[in-house]
Amino acid sequence: MSTIRAAITAVGHWVPEKILSNHDLEKMMDTNDEWIRTRTGIRERRILEKGATSDLGAGAVQDMLRKRGMSAEEIEVLIVATVTPDMFFPATACMIQEKIGAKHAWGFDFSAACSGFVFALTVGSQLIESGTYKKVVVVGADKMSAITDYTDRNTCILFGDAGAAVLLEPSSDPSLGIIDHRLYCDGSGGRYLNMLGGGSLNPPTHETVDKKMHFIYQDGKAVFKVAVIGMAEVSYEIMKRNNLTGKDVDWLVPHQANLRIIDACAERMELDKSKVMMNIDRYGNTTAATIPLCLSEWQLSGKLKKGHHCVLSSFGAGYTWGAVYLKWAY
Ligand code: COA
Repeated sequence: MSTIRAAITAVGHWVPEKILSNHDLEKMMDTNDEWIRTRTGIRERRILEKGATSDLGAGAVQDMLRKRGMSAEEIEVLIVATVTPDMFFPATACMIQEKIGAKHAWGFDFSAACSGFVFALTVGSQLIESGTYKKVVVVGADKMSAITDYTDRNTCILFGDAGAAVLLEPSSDPSLGIIDHRLYCDGSGGRYLNMLGGGSLNPPTHETVDKKMHFIYQDGKAVFKVAVIGMAEVSYEIMKRNNLTGKDVDWLVPHQANLRIIDACAERMELDKSKVMMNIDRYGNTTAATIPLCLSEWQLSGKLKKGHHCVLSSFGAGYTWGAVYLKWAY
């Protein structure tokens, strides 16, 4: 058993300036602010007009490095969770590495959709705990607007663009840092939430474009039913495994897909709503970025404090879902 524990020792984020509000969407399609707010909790989302996912990720890592007072050249590994890579290859990790000047880092992309950050954080923490690396950066970044069909009112209201990043280092206090994780996937859920076109199964053709196969497809009702149970159960499971009750947990840091899914999760954990990080109203679902974006905002505001017990929890395409339990280390 490793005696090294990985801890998040810095966090940062970057979001584009352009805001797409529910009222803006009202002018584009048959929808309304009241429907969107009551069904999802979203008021507005950010849109990256120029640039790609690597710009969101690079901005986030630079913000994190500035806060930590660290140079990009000190980064050893760069893991980028995303479903909207700049292109199939090279990896977006390579694009970010070049943009920020992380000359000594190697890296790779990680595809687990909305669970991407939780999965990548787990992998990154193992690289630290193995004793092989001392500075691993995990980025969650998605330019969802690039794969969103703004004529499909069922899905386009949900998504936004953002990037956020954390630094993992060996914890100087072994009681703090990443303590446990539970990760799952179930490929039978793939048909309910996907992007069918562009890969080796359906390479791009005029037909795939005409059939809108390069956009996100979601059967919202089907996904909702599984997500609401999956996220609540895995959060409850990790709490029980670590002998925690709702009273012990300081923060639930949930993936921000739908306010009602988050509420159900908090309820299952018997957690007061004041202990739930929530910014879905301002950003919508930014896929791999939601959880580190919450951590970054709460850290910046001073509400997230050293020693706080946090449960990070997600559900997304795949299906993939999981939770990480950590004690905040700085
Ligand atoms: N504005 C107004 N009406 C809309 C609308 C919109 N943007 N989108 C759908 N509607 C309509 C539907 O057409 C439907 O009308 P009908 O009853 O006449 O057919 C009605 O509103 C209800 O739609 P429904 O799909 O049943 O809504 P819902 O309560 O299931 O909410 C989602 C839809 C997408 C918000 C919800 O299903 C959801 O959040 N799903 C899971 C998302 C998720 O967690 N993803 C996983 C991680 S990415």
